[in-house]
Amino acid sequence: MTELTPLHGKRILLIIGGGIAAYKTLELIRRLADKGVRVRAIMTKAAHEFVTPLSVSSLTGEKVYTDLFDLTDEAEMGHIQLSRDADLLLVAPATADLMARMVAGMANDLATTALLATDKPVMVAPAMNVRMWEHKATQRNIAQLTQDGVGFIGPDDGNMACGEFGPGRLSETPDIIAALENHFSAATGPLAGRHILVTSGPTHEPIDPVRYLANRSSGKQGHAIAGSLASLGAQVTLVAGPTAQPTPQGVKIVHVETAREMLAACQTALPADGVICAAAVADWRVVQDAEQKMKKGPDGVPALALTENPDILAIISQLPKGQRPALVVGFAAETEKIIEHATAKLARKKCDWLVANDVSPASGVMGGDMNTVHVLSATGRDDWPQLSKTEVADRLARKVADYFSTSSHH
Ligand SMILES: Cc1cc2nc3c(=O)[nH]c(=O)nc-3n(C[C@H](O)[C@H](O)[C@H](O)COP(=O)(O)O)c2cc1C
Repeated sequence: MTELTPLHGKRILLIIGGGIAAYKTLELIRRLADKGVRVRAIMTKAAHEFVTPLSVSSLTGEKVYTDLFDLTDEAEMGHIQLSRDADLLLVAPATADLMARMVAGMANDLATTALLATDKPVMVAPAMNVRMWEHKATQRNIAQLTQDGVGFIGPDDGNMACGEFGPGRLSETPDIIAALENHFSAATGPLAGRHILVTSGPTHEPIDPVRYLANRSSGKQGHAIAGSLASLGAQVTLVAGPTAQPTPQGVKIVHVETAREMLAACQTALPADGVICAAAVADWRVVQDAEQKMKKGPDGVPALALTENPDILAIISQLPKGQRPALVVGFAAETEKIIEHATAKLARKKCDWLVANDVSPASGVMGGDMNTVHVLSATGRDDWPQLSKTEVADRLARKVADYFSTSSHH
């Protein structure tokens, strides 16, 4: 039976790479067909070693494409047309080789030519041996593809066909389908057409070329918020200080180091409908960072003279009407008198909502996965229970969507 999900009626161009997991795409094609998806498949030459085109075409009910120079194919269905006719291109399994060729912009077979010629969203579900996955070259390619806007599904951790264990397993079929459903529901999600700016992570303020002032923010909460907003359809710009967090799917990322760079990146990213300032921006920086590494010496311990950093939240909140985003949300990380300090901060900064959280060492919030927050606004206070940072992000994103869905904010 065909269920009516966000995938119903969608056209997916499935590019099957030459990996041992290629056989799993047979099951994927069946499940996608159950959801009412029309799948057309391209197989790389290497993919033929793992699964037959006959099996794939039996399941898609369509011809399988492989050869760039098959003139009959060009007459029936050109390589450009193949990608234009799809709502999304899915590479599964994405081999290390295919990803490398995508990064290089190569077009030396039908699969890569279709990927280069497309103006449609591209998602990849990688599968490979754990050493191949962890290799610097592959990691470099993943970072570049993410930067280029390619969405990643998986891989999973687990036992591999090659007998090793670790990340590199093709995501399970239901997870691939869930990621595709997320993608398509975002396009019609409640925040579709809204641009939201999110800041995340700490800032690093240089003391000299090798030392800096920093804080313990991991960027987990801010990055999760960016991801949740994107999954509701928002166009998200994430301005991130130095963090080890992966870039959430569908988010445009701008990397910065210092508070001043973060402010400049935010100003460049504006206009926006909403701003969520979740970054732990350093309040102070060193007045003049040294050009050369400071040396230990007979003159004793250097005194670090500090000066105040720009207050990004206050600056954005107090932009003139017309330039100020409709919704400005700040975060208050407090270690004591949380509500009292946050209430004062809401008034002082003139933002619309303030999300207050307890970051005292006992709370385990800094760097941890859980968070207990209070959302303050002019109309009152919401105390949320302890939740994972992902759940906090989802709730906040829904609250943002509710805000924009009320007619007065259109
Ligand atoms: C038995 C076998 C299994 C393989 N499994 C994988 C795999 O899981 N992932 C991968 O990236 N490459 C794998 N390879 C290597 C690819 O097949 C090879 O890089 C090929 O050139 C990929 O071509 P394609 O990217 O055009 O599909 C495997 C090779 C062999 C012989």
